[in-house]
Amino acid sequence: VIEDVNIRKISDSRGNPTLEVDILTTTGHGRVAAPSGASTGELEVASFPEEGVDHVITEFGNKIVSELIGLDASEGIYIDQILKEMDGTENLSSLGGNTIVAISLAAAKAASSSHGLPLYRFLGGNMVEEIPYPLGNMINGGAHAGKNAPDIQEFLVVPVGADNITDAIFANSKVHKRIGELIKVKDKSFTGGKGDEGGWAPNLSNYDALEIQAQACEDVSNELDFIIRPSLDLAPSGLWDNGKEVYVYGREGVERNTGEQIDFVKEIIETYKMFFVEDPLHEKDFAGFAELTRKIGRKCLICGDDIFVTNRNILEEGIRMGAANSIIIKPNQIGTLSDTYETVKLAKSNNYVPVVSHRSGETTDETIAHLAVAFSCPLIKTGALGGERIAKLNELIRIEEQMLCPSMARLNK
Ligand code: PGA
Ligand code: ZN
Repeated sequence: VIEDVNIRKISDSRGNPTLEVDILTTTGHGRVAAPSGASTGELEVASFPEEGVDHVITEFGNKIVSELIGLDASEGIYIDQILKEMDGTENLSSLGGNTIVAISLAAAKAASSSHGLPLYRFLGGNMVEEIPYPLGNMINGGAHAGKNAPDIQEFLVVPVGADNITDAIFANSKVHKRIGELIKVKDKSFTGGKGDEGGWAPNLSNYDALEIQAQACEDVSNELDFIIRPSLDLAPSGLWDNGKEVYVYGREGVERNTGEQIDFVKEIIETYKMFFVEDPLHEKDFAGFAELTRKIGRKCLICGDDIFVTNRNILEEGIRMGAANSIIIKPNQIGTLSDTYETVKLAKSNNYVPVVSHRSGETTDETIAHLAVAFSCPLIKTGALGGERIAKLNELIRIEEQMLCPSMARLNK
């Protein structure tokens, strides 16, 4: 039974305000903080009301607390319903999706702690056995870096040949270091700057960045003797000029229409043997997504982030059109744990690989590591470096340790 709720303003990794929620039950405690995006999808729920974080606390703080006290924290679906009713808007713009998601997840955490279970076990039951592979962010461009960085937002790698999460995490850090060295060779004036998600933010063209990414994967794969594959998030909604109907690659001084964009991405996938490509087209182009997915087949994961925004109904439309074969799962895009889970279920039953993901503005909250394990996601996207990124990665190391040695689960709860 929920006995107390505390909502406070804290800072995210960009120094912007966000919310953290503590929920105390008779025998448990859950704490969760919400992240924020920079290249957000248009149809995501609103993070906060227009008036901001302070307004949530002063206007709604007492009301939220009084509505929640006395409820059973393990009745997640009911709690989510109450929160959505209290908000009363379609896009959660009154309380804010971040407020609601932090409460929704904190309630689940409090319930898991009352049951003496880690969150991944409480949500996933005894079925969970897999630790997701980490998609590590190596080079940042687009909305996550400065003007001369590549137009492509994220150059990622996945250590698909690693045997365990610790080896996987350190493989990613090795690739990150190697990429830093290769950038310095290419650009003597590089001062080591990084973007919002901890990847390097270099003055490089898209193709130079792709070459360096491939070289570093090869070098570290040879050194560690297992395969590391490159991946991308193009996040091209920010490049799309709706009037001219072209993608504007400012860094290259090139414009591509939809057909050219599809050819460009297809060629990159084939040349560099990409493992995963997120948002190859802008978020409204279901037909373009479907054409690329048809051409690529299962050779590469074609993943939708801004296009699906973790929304079950939008994913349904995507499935109908054959738009992708993978989906990014960001709980604060949809606002509640139960809605997040509905989207994961729909994805899995249609062979769409769910990939739980961080946001560019993060906190040291580690909840998404538990969600990825609970949902049996084969991949998690949570950066490679930076305290707010390694918080999730190090939690995966702890979870793997618990799974190999179940008695640890009791010690660590
Ligand atoms: P965001 O970007 O968190 O800034 O929205 C991350 C992504 O596009 O995957
Ligand atoms: Zn994305």
